[in-house]
Amino acid sequence: MSQEHRESLLEVTNLSVYFHTDRGVVKALDGAELRVGKGEVVGLIGESGSGKTTIARSVLRVLPPAGKVINGNIRFAGKNLLQLSEAQLNDSVRGKGITLIPQDPFNSLNPVFKVGTQIKDIMKWKGSDGEGRNIDEDKIIAMLEQVQIPAPADQLRKFPHQFSGGQRQRLMIAMALLPGPDLVIADEPTTALDVTVEAQILQLMMGLVLERGISVLFITHDLGVASQICKRIVVMYAGQDMEDAPADVIFSQACHPYTRELLESLPNPEGDIRDIPGEVPGLVNPPSGCRFHPRCFRATDRCSSRTPEKTMMGDGHWVRCYHPIRA
Ligand SMILES: Nc1ncnc2c1ncn2[C@@H]1O[C@H](COP(=O)(O)OP(=O)(O)OP(=O)(O)O)[C@@H](O)[C@H]1O
Ligand code: SF4
Ligand SMILES: [Mg+2]
Repeated sequence: MSQEHRESLLEVTNLSVYFHTDRGVVKALDGAELRVGKGEVVGLIGESGSGKTTIARSVLRVLPPAGKVINGNIRFAGKNLLQLSEAQLNDSVRGKGITLIPQDPFNSLNPVFKVGTQIKDIMKWKGSDGEGRNIDEDKIIAMLEQVQIPAPADQLRKFPHQFSGGQRQRLMIAMALLPGPDLVIADEPTTALDVTVEAQILQLMMGLVLERGISVLFITHDLGVASQICKRIVVMYAGQDMEDAPADVIFSQACHPYTRELLESLPNPEGDIRDIPGEVPGLVNPPSGCRFHPRCFRATDRCSSRTPEKTMMGDGHWVRCYHPIRA
């Protein structure tokens, strides 16, 4: 089945999120859109500050107190997440239907408790796996074996600092899979790791999610990493989604000027890196209309007047641009 015809699991539409800060109101997301189909692996890519984590936090409704959803809709498995009560969210969504693999596993584990105690406590709260069975120690050990942690029963008696970065990330993957989620949001899960360990962990994670049919929203600033594992890629810039296409199309036929610049900025075989000209805008007073316009080589007056609607460029290929590149 082609990716774009899959039934939706997660649908984020027209999402705007503001942070109230001493510097002013940070307009972190401006009408952002994103869809993840059932069993689909979607990459959400963008530079630092483009709003990737803010989308993830909005979906799980765990924005920091300064952050407010101003507009938009988030639907997951037929539920309108922005209208559920906290109790309903805890009951069926957070850590259950949707789990998170965070960027920095060290911050997600309490240093003063043994790993086994922490996993058991969290799983007690989660109550059961996806099929309604309790998550007991045997299940935890079996999952640690699946993520290839050696001698798992012994490991449960260790403290977080006794694990390497790669092992901690394997623990995070195990904890994200134990409740039998429908969707895993992986927020830059391997950026803290070296390249060899990163490749091993990504391969392991992808094997486990694909065999279970779990959908993944894979957040990264690394287009290279996204292309290895994602079927579809959504490109974000300064809080707006710019292009959404199958991964191979992003590489061969990207239409959005920003995506083109991003591809140009990938290191070439000689290892040279070319920066995108201009600067990432501040989001207290972001550029009007298409937020890329001050840096865009194709910009016209129209671009700063209004945010472009999405235009369909091909099967499952959408772009938000008044002057998409068609060649
Ligand atoms: N708690 C906060 N208070 C104020 N501004 C915030 C807060 N969290 C995020 N922002 C702002 O919102 C914007 C989007 O941030 P976000 O963390 O979502 O970006 P990101 O794409 O995940 O970046 P990174 O790749 O660095 O993780 C940024 O301008 C950021 O400064
Ligand atoms: S809408 Fe205009 S400014 Fe934005 S990317 Fe397209 S051409 Fe450039
Ligand atoms: Mg982030």
